[in-house]
Amino acid sequence: MYKGNENITICDHPLLKHKITMLRNKETGTNEFRKIVEEIAMLIGYEALRELETKEVEVETPIETAMCPVITGKKPAIIPILIAGLGLVDGLVKLMPVAKIGHIGLYRDEETFEPKEYYCKLPAAIGERKIFVVDPMLATGGSAIAAIDFIKQYGGKDIIFLCVIAAPEGLEKLAEAHPDVKIFVGNLDRGLNEKKYIVPGLGDAGDRIFGTK
Ligand code: URA
Repeated sequence: MYKGNENITICDHPLLKHKITMLRNKETGTNEFRKIVEEIAMLIGYEALRELETKEVEVETPIETAMCPVITGKKPAIIPILIAGLGLVDGLVKLMPVAKIGHIGLYRDEETFEPKEYYCKLPAAIGERKIFVVDPMLATGGSAIAAIDFIKQYGGKDIIFLCVIAAPEGLEKLAEAHPDVKIFVGNLDRGLNEKKYIVPGLGDAGDRIFGTK
């Protein structure tokens, strides 16, 4: 829980914290970084999926007939914010193999500084789905807020945001802009530096996932 906001979960599992520390290390190379991000997506996803609805179905075990829970409710959609969000997709798909995947890409308008959508392709019937919007870094909150704005314009309603590291500034802004969205964070860092990088952070998540620097 973060400052009493029950929509925000800062995950506290030691395994997750250990893996985030590995990501922070600048000596961690692309191959390892990518694998750890995938594992982290599964660990945060596990927390985020805790509230999935279940229903009881009859099962014949080798011993007797029993009523047992299976997952029910809305079908999931995973929507990475391009490009770094792609790193979280494979881990989440392992947890939700039936999930459909959308993509949303944003750029910052050089004059207005407003985020603009340059690519958006969402699964059909988005309004009927449980939507997981994912981005490894929640820094200023601008991209996450804009992405969720766009998804809502396309009809998305039931939205969960998932990130590996958040800065308090971005987390507060996102929670304020979208009070209906549940937010799951791997670690809450100290803040942002003058270049709007999260500190201590892990650098540019996209570059580290794709090896582009
Ligand atoms: N995006 C990143 O990849 N890293 C940061 O620290 C902030 C935004």
